[in-house]
Amino acid sequence: MCGIVGYTGKRQAQGVLYDCLCRLEYRGYDSCGIAVNTPEVQVFKDAGKVHDILQNAPLFKGTAGLGHTRWATCGEPTQINAHPHTDCTGKICLVHNGVINNYSQLLKRLEGNGHKIVSDTDTELIAHLIEEYDKGDLEEAVRLAVKEIEGSYALVVMRSGENTLVVVRQDSPLVIGVGDGEYLVASDVPAILGYTNRVIYLDEGDIGTISPDSLKIRRNGGYIVPLVEKVNWTQDESQKAGYSHYMLKEIHEQPRVIQNTLINMPLPESFNKSEILEQSRKTGILFLACGSSYHAALTARYLVEEHLNIPVRLEVASEFNYMHRLLPCKLAVVLSQSGETADVLRAMRRLKQAGCMVVAITNVAGSTAARLADHTIYTQAGPEIGVAATKSFIAQLIVLYALCFAGASAANIRYQDYLSTMRLLPSVVQSILGSHQNIKDAAVEVAKSKSAFFIGRGINYPIALEGALKLKEISYIHAEGYAAGELKHGPFALLSPETPVLALVSRDQTYEAMLTGLREIKVRRAPLIVIGEAGDEQLGQLADRVISLPSFNRLFNPILFTVVLQLLAYYVALELGCSIDTPRNLAKSVTVE
Ligand code: AGP
Repeated sequence: MCGIVGYTGKRQAQGVLYDCLCRLEYRGYDSCGIAVNTPEVQVFKDAGKVHDILQNAPLFKGTAGLGHTRWATCGEPTQINAHPHTDCTGKICLVHNGVINNYSQLLKRLEGNGHKIVSDTDTELIAHLIEEYDKGDLEEAVRLAVKEIEGSYALVVMRSGENTLVVVRQDSPLVIGVGDGEYLVASDVPAILGYTNRVIYLDEGDIGTISPDSLKIRRNGGYIVPLVEKVNWTQDESQKAGYSHYMLKEIHEQPRVIQNTLINMPLPESFNKSEILEQSRKTGILFLACGSSYHAALTARYLVEEHLNIPVRLEVASEFNYMHRLLPCKLAVVLSQSGETADVLRAMRRLKQAGCMVVAITNVAGSTAARLADHTIYTQAGPEIGVAATKSFIAQLIVLYALCFAGASAANIRYQDYLSTMRLLPSVVQSILGSHQNIKDAAVEVAKSKSAFFIGRGINYPIALEGALKLKEISYIHAEGYAAGELKHGPFALLSPETPVLALVSRDQTYEAMLTGLREIKVRRAPLIVIGEAGDEQLGQLADRVISLPSFNRLFNPILFTVVLQLLAYYVALELGCSIDTPRNLAKSVTVE
């Protein structure tokens, strides 16, 4: 899941490419490169991050070019494997996001035809394929070349000496930014917001030819008049706004995100009559997602089964795609911040083929998930740049809570109160963000450990999973989230004075069982950090450190626990000097299987 860009217009391309790549770096940062037609194509690329590498690039004068930041899939992160890649003549140049599954067959054929393949990447093969078909019409050569590819691809292709770009996409996102006398191409919208907020979302199989003053898009064999859409995100939203990290900025944006998401929620009356709720009452709901979004979906199961009394089935999308029998399901809800996670998109296509109504809860307008779904509900988190999901996760929880309570309010007026109580959440979350020295102190302790456990019961169990994921992905401490009752069925063997346990304790029906669990952990002398409700004296007697939530309706503890765990993970990673926004080996949206 790399980030690709292209530019053709009046400006010097190199500066535009560098700027857009800096905004795409969360998609992968193993290597990067640019190519500019000066008018002969000049390429500069190497292993490493955009800022470190491209600021040392020689100046290429030219108004058309392309660029890439890589998340290595095929071929190690080296200079030769970095994109852009060229054909044997060096005249065909391209960047790619995706994976070619029939790589070895194509390699054998191309080498058999005498092509000199210099890198270990699947991408370079595409340049040689285009070379084979190139009879002067670059778009036609690209169209014929991609017919041979099995896999996913978003491509920007350029021929030396020309300021024309050819773009094509299949199972990998690509947008075109429409400017005055210029066009930009990128893997996603935040990259080009500094130049335009008018975008064209390419559909699966679309191929286009772009020059500074013309744009042609071919869809299903015929040329179309593309729909230019206005994006309501601003460049500022994708800046750090004075924070030292995007993650910290995005954590601090959560009060506003909660407000915006609540304001844009469908009204209870309309939702109650909605086809979605009616269908779910009949057949239950299948929830599908990956990573943090899966933890939000797991939280949804507790909410929907308890408050709507509707049975929920839950699957990790990547596993679901290899389940042979598609059990009867008439309604599926998929959660995906990016709306581009390959495993989720594949599951959506499978469910739609099976005649299932698919609802997407996503954060990105125009994303593939939004366009595939029968109904889309948007979280209003704005662009999320930090690889670790924070505000998008909270926004997903808010949508799920609000939909549940809206659905339940038809039968029980009490839920109307809960919906109004949710409007107080922004200030409660702000109170945690306002003062959290105790979280910083706990982080200093956790930073000393090599591994940690996060435990919770009931609806706090998915939050424990999320807390462990946050710590894992940005601090590289091996953390496991566990249903508290499961710890003694094996993981207890790992408890020691070096393995802190972070426990989420709500004074609900799980309270006594949690206290018993804490005592069992205490006697094994593992450091115990408990996050609990304000004024809970008992916790102080058991825990080495207590982090108290502000007093609020405990129904919303999972949301407050999440903010505490986000801050904890952030300060642990800060203490360890980790690359918080771009953790090693990760990427923001996983567009390959
Ligand atoms: C979470 O912090 C990670 N970035 C990752 O687990 C993420 O949640 C997962 O890749 C799913 O992404 P999506 O919500 O965009 O589909």
